[in-house]
Amino acid sequence: MPVIVIASPKGGAGKSTTAVLLGTELAHAGADVTMLDCDPNGSVTLWSERAPLPPRIRVLSDVGEAGIIKTIRTHDTDGSVVIVDLEGVASRLVSRAISQADLVITPMRATTLDATIGVRALSLIGEEEEALGRDIRHAVVFTMTRAIRSKQHTGIEESLKEQGVDIIEPALMERAAFSALFEFGGDLRGMPAQGRMEGALQNASEFAQAVYARLSAEEAA
Ligand SMILES: Nc1ncnc2c1ncn2[C@@H]1O[C@H](COP(=O)(O)OP(=O)(O)O)[C@@H](O)[C@H]1O
Ligand SMILES: [Mg+2]
Repeated sequence: MPVIVIASPKGGAGKSTTAVLLGTELAHAGADVTMLDCDPNGSVTLWSERAPLPPRIRVLSDVGEAGIIKTIRTHDTDGSVVIVDLEGVASRLVSRAISQADLVITPMRATTLDATIGVRALSLIGEEEEALGRDIRHAVVFTMTRAIRSKQHTGIEESLKEQGVDIIEPALMERAAFSALFEFGGDLRGMPAQGRMEGALQNASEFAQAVYARLSAEEAA
């Protein structure tokens, strides 16, 4: 089953939010999901402790550099979709996780600073590809976007596309429901309504489908 690694050296880029949204959406769609919390700050662990986990989701905490490859392989072969949430750093742990990925997703706010730091994830992936002698599928998702797209956003997107970077559509919009995941735990369906819930559900579900489509293409290749 696929291993999805969420990686960006930028803190606050939306990695843990992306991991939780993707995990809960894929589980809702029927997949068994194992989430590996590899960030010492433990965002995903804190989320998992807020409320009973939705069906088909399991969270493993404190997965470190020594255990990461074995842990990924164990859960990959037991039929689970593995989602790895990482700290916003470049480290050996991050490189090891990337080396096991079927897809690396780099969440990125559409600002110049975030994009500048975020694209450093691409170099990390390039290094792993070189070490392994194979390509690692990679995509960027813009996070915390607004309904009205800024010029900065459009410029960054164009520049990434020119570099051949795969950009996941839809972006993850800035939504009260997405940040409330860490307040209430569980998934979007189980929380008290936050803002326009329907829009949040649709955004999360379409995002997960766009990720899933990339994985299916990978398995068919
Ligand atoms: N799409 C979003 N809408 C609203 N708030 C968001 C969204 N994505 C992230 N946030 C908030 O931004 C902050 C940083 O997000 P987080 O996912 O923890 O980033 P990272 O894991 O990259 O450090 C958190 O407070 C989170 O709730
Ligand atoms: Mg995080």
